[in-house]
Amino acid sequence: MAIVETQSQGDVAIIRMDNPPVNALGHALRAGLEKAFLQAIGDAGVKAIVLTGTGKFFSAGADISEFRSEAKEPYLPQLIDKIEASVKPVVAAVNGTALGGGLELALGCHYRVAGRDVRQLGLPEIKLGIIPGAGGTQRLPRAIGVEAALQLITSGVFIDAAKGASQGLIDSLADGDVLAAAVLFARSRIGKPPRRIGESKIDKSQVPAQLFEKARAGIARHPSGPVAPKAAIDAVEAAATLPIAEGLARERQAFREAAASPYARALQYAFFAERRAANLPGIGPAVKQREVESIGIVGAGTMGTGITIAFLNGGYPVTVVESTPEALDKGVERIRDTLSANAKRGRITEAQAADRFAKLTPSLKLEDLGKADLVIEAVFENMALKKEVFEKLDAIAKPGAIIATNTSTLDVNQIAAVTKRPQDVVGLHFFSPANIMRLLEIVRAAKTGDDVMATSMAIAKRIGKVGVQAGVCDGFVGNRMLASYGGEVQAMLLEGAMPREIDGALEAWGMAMGPLAVSDLAGLDVGYRIRKERKLTGEAAQHARIADKIVEMGRLGQKTGAGFYRYDANRRRQVDPEIEALIRSEAEALQIKQRHIPPEEIVERSLLRLANEGAKILEEGIALRASDIDTMYLNGYGFPAWRGGPMWQADAMGLKKLADRIKAYEAKYGPRWKIAALIERLAAEDATFAALDAKKR
Ligand code: CAA
Ligand code: NAI
Repeated sequence: MAIVETQSQGDVAIIRMDNPPVNALGHALRAGLEKAFLQAIGDAGVKAIVLTGTGKFFSAGADISEFRSEAKEPYLPQLIDKIEASVKPVVAAVNGTALGGGLELALGCHYRVAGRDVRQLGLPEIKLGIIPGAGGTQRLPRAIGVEAALQLITSGVFIDAAKGASQGLIDSLADGDVLAAAVLFARSRIGKPPRRIGESKIDKSQVPAQLFEKARAGIARHPSGPVAPKAAIDAVEAAATLPIAEGLARERQAFREAAASPYARALQYAFFAERRAANLPGIGPAVKQREVESIGIVGAGTMGTGITIAFLNGGYPVTVVESTPEALDKGVERIRDTLSANAKRGRITEAQAADRFAKLTPSLKLEDLGKADLVIEAVFENMALKKEVFEKLDAIAKPGAIIATNTSTLDVNQIAAVTKRPQDVVGLHFFSPANIMRLLEIVRAAKTGDDVMATSMAIAKRIGKVGVQAGVCDGFVGNRMLASYGGEVQAMLLEGAMPREIDGALEAWGMAMGPLAVSDLAGLDVGYRIRKERKLTGEAAQHARIADKIVEMGRLGQKTGAGFYRYDANRRRQVDPEIEALIRSEAEALQIKQRHIPPEEIVERSLLRLANEGAKILEEGIALRASDIDTMYLNGYGFPAWRGGPMWQADAMGLKKLADRIKAYEAKYGPRWKIAALIERLAAEDATFAALDAKKR
């Protein structure tokens, strides 16, 4: 079928878009639509027009891959204006997802009939660092009210068709054939004046007082950064206060400002980086995935319960095995509490919470995992214990089951080697809290089968996670980089930067939480145990002194009410003079002369250590692409998406400058700053990580 096809049903012309996979409104589709509409409008035999999509998509909006090149006519805003201007009634048969420019197209039609099962209606442009640029900020407020539109546009959330109907976005819901319903609707409008949203007036008395002032005050730490949210509010405010022509001009201006910002580029890069991560080189569609219908989890501690909830939320039945009845009861209770808290907060219904909980089978016998298609081990971080569990699982698990470990530091090859089926063993490294954090590091051991990798990636998507491949090394990708950055943070403490200054600088830059606040949240005993096992020496031991002393004082972080900070009853952190005095006295004992470290230096040293370690990981082949590393940092480590990720930041700085800065720090601080050979090579070639990634396509 052509990209746009017109059929007639009597005097109704049906224009259908068919541009797989998502009906993105690239140039060819826009041109096809313009031609089809001009023809239908000019054809005396046509009395009404229905516009629809194909499969699950009406249209997912503008083609994001065209954003970096000059747009070509016909432009979407003008196309939509022409459709709205039609004297013949135009009905959108919203057969599926309508997002961004796709929803704006539907808003340009005079009426919208949607399938009751349509789940994704929205203007998610903000997530790409831009704002709706084809009239959405002007027409949506006219359709559903200013306050509701402002909320949808500044959050980018999706609503379903039923909600759309209740808000006035959808005129009619269809239970069966949407197209047939839309054709009937169109016929009922023949001969009547079309209702154009652009011509309707906004009732200003309905706009709550201070709506825009409050919205502006609430965007300080918006996930899309500082530019797009402000632009979105400005544009909606224009809709509420100006005639449509002026409002559209303001929208255009605000759109341009947002689109030109570095944050828009970073967010669009992040969108494609995430999708690219799912693509495993050499593992094409010919690799048959294993069927995974049931899950077994070993260990119902912090991670085991979180992972269980993630799979229950994904619709899977889960059997969870513990070693003692007490631990099992505690785990089950935590799972029940989390599900019911989600229901209380309205995230799921009570019925869904009950359904999900009913799919849980608690057990004290590992043998009960014999039927599971995927078993994930989440027992204590101890190699001897993990080997023992894997030997048993090898005897119990059915042939073809995938056996995974959630280890965060141990060698997955060694774990796999105790089984007779290393091809079935993989690392599935979830992040805490596992039911919330989106990242899933999929650790490919030396013998992990291609089908196991492909299946793991598909499962990640089914439970709403972002799967990214990593190779085996200490800390894999994410935590190895974190160790490097954490080491620098400890060095900066000794040099004179206080916890509030370090966290403050990085949070002001955009990190969700500063590194010391994160350690307090995760529990300082975790790192302490790892350090003691590793018997650190030299500079690393020196850098660990402050954190070690804090643990030895019995301050394990939030769970004990104190760590790097002190916590009040509401878990709000407070600066603790005792810790600042400890930092000063440790520095004195090591004869380190303290100084004020400016926030720019704190941020630079953190980012440079991350990027340098990332480059080493890349040259060793532990990560497949720089964009994979960024995807991990954005989804597992609270790195702001609008900053693109540490490798994107390195490219933005320019690799020559990056190399110079790293070398300057190496000259000052010694071997911990040793530059990655890959950075030197790319800097000499005047290349970028992005260009290196592009070669791997
Ligand atoms: N442009 C270009 N490609 C797109 C796209 C878009 N708007 N939306 C999705 N794709 C591509 C994806 O990159 C992916 O390609 P590969 O298979 O090659 O990796 C493919 O379509 C399928 O996408 P997903 O894997 O994400 O599929 P999904 O079913 O999980 O999700 C979706 C579908 C909800 C539409 C999701 O892709 C999405 O959120 N897309 C972005 C939608 C969006 O932001 N639209 C607004 C665009 S901006 C705009 O419209 C500006 C304006 O006002 C003019
Ligand atoms: P945890 O101590 O909270 O839970 C471990 C659970 O395993 C305990 O409930 C224990 O009773 C149970 N267990 C021990 N031996 C068992 C056996 N033989 N059979 C059944 N159950 C057994 O530990 P946590 O934090 O959940 O960690 C588990 C794993 O996840 C570790 O490998 C850890 O490195 C990893 N991990 C932890 C993260 C975290 O933030 N806590 C993040 C990512 C991975």
